[in-house]
Amino acid sequence: MSDGVPKIPITRAIFDDEEARAVAAVLASGWVVQGPKVAEFEEGFRSFTGLAEAVACTSCTTGLHLALLAADIGPGDEVIVPSFTWVASANAVTYVGATPVLADVSLETFNLLPDEIERLRSPRTRGVMPVHLFGLAAEMDTILALAARHDLKVIEDCACALGTLYNGQHVGALGHGGAFSFHPRKAITTGEGGMYTTADPASATRARSLRDHGAARSDHARHTAKGSALLPVFNMVGYNYRMTDLQAAVGVAQLAKLERILGSRIERATRYDQLLAGQADLVVPAEPEGHRHSYQSYVCRVRIDGTGEAAILAGHARRNAVMAALEDEGVATRQGTHAVHILEYYRRTYGYAPMDLPGAFAADRLSLALPLYAGMTDAEQDRVVERLAWHLAHHTTRIHAG
Ligand SMILES: Cc1ncc(COP(=O)(O)O)c(C=O)c1O
Repeated sequence: MSDGVPKIPITRAIFDDEEARAVAAVLASGWVVQGPKVAEFEEGFRSFTGLAEAVACTSCTTGLHLALLAADIGPGDEVIVPSFTWVASANAVTYVGATPVLADVSLETFNLLPDEIERLRSPRTRGVMPVHLFGLAAEMDTILALAARHDLKVIEDCACALGTLYNGQHVGALGHGGAFSFHPRKAITTGEGGMYTTADPASATRARSLRDHGAARSDHARHTAKGSALLPVFNMVGYNYRMTDLQAAVGVAQLAKLERILGSRIERATRYDQLLAGQADLVVPAEPEGHRHSYQSYVCRVRIDGTGEAAILAGHARRNAVMAALEDEGVATRQGTHAVHILEYYRRTYGYAPMDLPGAFAADRLSLALPLYAGMTDAEQDRVVERLAWHLAHHTTRIHAG
């Protein structure tokens, strides 16, 4: 155990008095749900990202649901989704009655392999959901070109991608729409929270109604205008995906720190790249030409000899042994994310075998996220790298592969 040595967490939310003051002010105002603070947060988000439309909601998952509904994807349709993503990407497709068709990913970028769109396309394919995983944009030029050729809606899962640029443009409205997350593992947090984004004003108007039970007018608009005695009209079946003003107040305070947070994360990631440059057993995150990685997570992968299942499983045993040893010493790590095709529900429902999507399976088994947060010190980072190197040297594939 790490007696006396402070633990190094996987991430750390950056809060100070600003968030507390902002929440207190909302409580004092008496208006706590989808009111002026939510509007201010949406405006701040638009101004930071340059995206035309931003509709706050309760999570990225519900934002993806709104995006799919706004794109008119429904029962009988298929949507191509990379398997190596948080399960919410595929679940959102399931919510609208469509089928998520899981696709393989690049082991270098952890993102959707665009060729998978041609391989998996069927007459029922209506959409594709690129995920900008860990803060690196998917290969959008190729994906958008294929989508245009086959008339597919493109819904971007931007859960990890606040601050992510693709050819200088912020992600989130490169296709039909996208959704961001404000879960505490993300660059900024509102506890839970999400943002649906699009360049299409009609889709944004529809999403505003869908997030509020299908109401044509929000409670705040109604209460601050004449005629508030009558309830609005309801033209569609909606949901309760309203963000609270308490969350939005935290979001506004967090947005004010976002440049600093992103700058610090990128600086720490660059330093990891340098410190790990000589580490032959690890592959560090890629940042191809034309991308700005926002490093929601710094995810490496354990290098293996070969590409077969046996090599993946040997590397997996080694990774897990290293992660367990680091945990015992107070250094938190995580597997990057999971491969949805091997999660019980999706495996059982669609009959996937692990090696059906070898890139996603390998990424699930070999990925390793290191601690990363704004304000992480050189000493903390040096300790992570030193202990990681030590354990990699002492847990060789051969020992753990048996
Ligand atoms: C790639 C991806 N998609 C979707 C989500 C869901 O986000 P939320 O927790 O805000 O619903 C996450 C959350 O970690 C994620 O990483």
